[in-house]
Amino acid sequence: MIEAQKGTRDILPGEIARWQLVEAQARATFELYGFREIRTPIFESTELFSRTIGEATDIVSKEMYTFLDRKGRSLTLRPENTAPVARAVIEHQMHRGAGLQRLYYIGPMFRYERPQKGRARQFHQIGVEVFGSEHPAVDAETLEMLMAFLESLGIAGAELAVNSVGCPVCRPAYREALLAYLRPHRDSLCEDCRRRLAENPLRCFDCKVPADQETMSAAPPITESLCAACRDHFARLVALLEALAIRHRIEPRLVRGLDYYRRTSFEVTVPGLGSQNALLGGGRYDGLIRDLGGPDVPGFGFAVGEERLVLSLPAAAAAAEGAPDIYMAAIGEEGVARALVVGRWLRRTGKRIVLEPQPDKSLRAQMRRAHDLGAAFVLIIGESEVREGSVTIRRMADGTQERVAAQRVEGRLREMAGA
Ligand code: HAM
Repeated sequence: MIEAQKGTRDILPGEIARWQLVEAQARATFELYGFREIRTPIFESTELFSRTIGEATDIVSKEMYTFLDRKGRSLTLRPENTAPVARAVIEHQMHRGAGLQRLYYIGPMFRYERPQKGRARQFHQIGVEVFGSEHPAVDAETLEMLMAFLESLGIAGAELAVNSVGCPVCRPAYREALLAYLRPHRDSLCEDCRRRLAENPLRCFDCKVPADQETMSAAPPITESLCAACRDHFARLVALLEALAIRHRIEPRLVRGLDYYRRTSFEVTVPGLGSQNALLGGGRYDGLIRDLGGPDVPGFGFAVGEERLVLSLPAAAAAAEGAPDIYMAAIGEEGVARALVVGRWLRRTGKRIVLEPQPDKSLRAQMRRAHDLGAAFVLIIGESEVREGSVTIRRMADGTQERVAAQRVEGRLREMAGA
């Protein structure tokens, strides 16, 4: 038997209500703030990711699904969507218009990671990106929207941690400070971290090895090396978060595992997700569009892991499984043909109708099936109904049953539903 690949899975109809709920809520919330949806391709040139996320990051160095196509081009299944959206903004000159571009996306991402609870190789993100302003009010308003989104879903215990990771002005001095701290620890660091020392010592903060994490927990925090402009930006953001009464914690060593961040970086964790407790992450990436060959357009965004969001939903959310309004129980070939006609018009009135053509199956068996599906009504069309041009309506809640002329079905259903 051929099975789904490790780290991928089918999202089955029995659980889809929770996915649809979070997606509908995301669209509704984001649109209140002026965001519009963008859909970018699943694969892009490999260079798009290596140049922006950074060669020394775990994502680029270990986790990408990269392959050559038939013409020998190196392509990669998108491991995230900020770089693709930035590419699309430049390609379609979306930054040219007046004002800001606010975009959101929902879709699959791919990373070759060891699967566990809340971590998959094909996973899904709900994300937003704002282009065109470096004002900290953009960060604050987008974070306010994010917290409103989580609250609307009833997510409990979400904790927002924020930090500033500086800019190209303050980064070199910080890099030196970090190297000065790490050099004496070099021999005790893991092999990956020793490589990171040479390539980008900031990436040592991403290390999962407990001994290295302990070393990093005493490293000088980046907040101590910020330049005046970055310090000011961060102070203004924190003041705006306070004005909006958004609970947050300043986490001076939060740097996040992607190189494109500048200034603001943040994460939200929730209890109950185990070791994969980061529900989402994001930040500012003011140099990204320029690094991709575009003009100087600042940006800010976040992405929520949809698997983790669905796992964090309260149990009662989205209990409805989409039961039909009506089950059509048709007997005989002519009954099935009539049921198709009646079903067509009732669907035009917005009724959810299930028709399973099994003309030889007994009425009793069809009733059992309607009951199992949770249908509110059954419409019976047997031989005598066909002869008379009528339909028998059965209300499943109490077994009330009556036969009506076919053209009266809609009105009678409405009366019986209201009774
Ligand atoms: P990220 O932190 O790499 O950031 O991913 C964001 C979220 O995606 C994580 O917090 C997590 O919930 C989810 N996620 C990541 N990897 C996996 C996985 N293997 N399985 C399940 N969930 C996962 C980004 O991707 C940035 N593009 C976010 C961003 C948008 N920054 C600015 N704009």
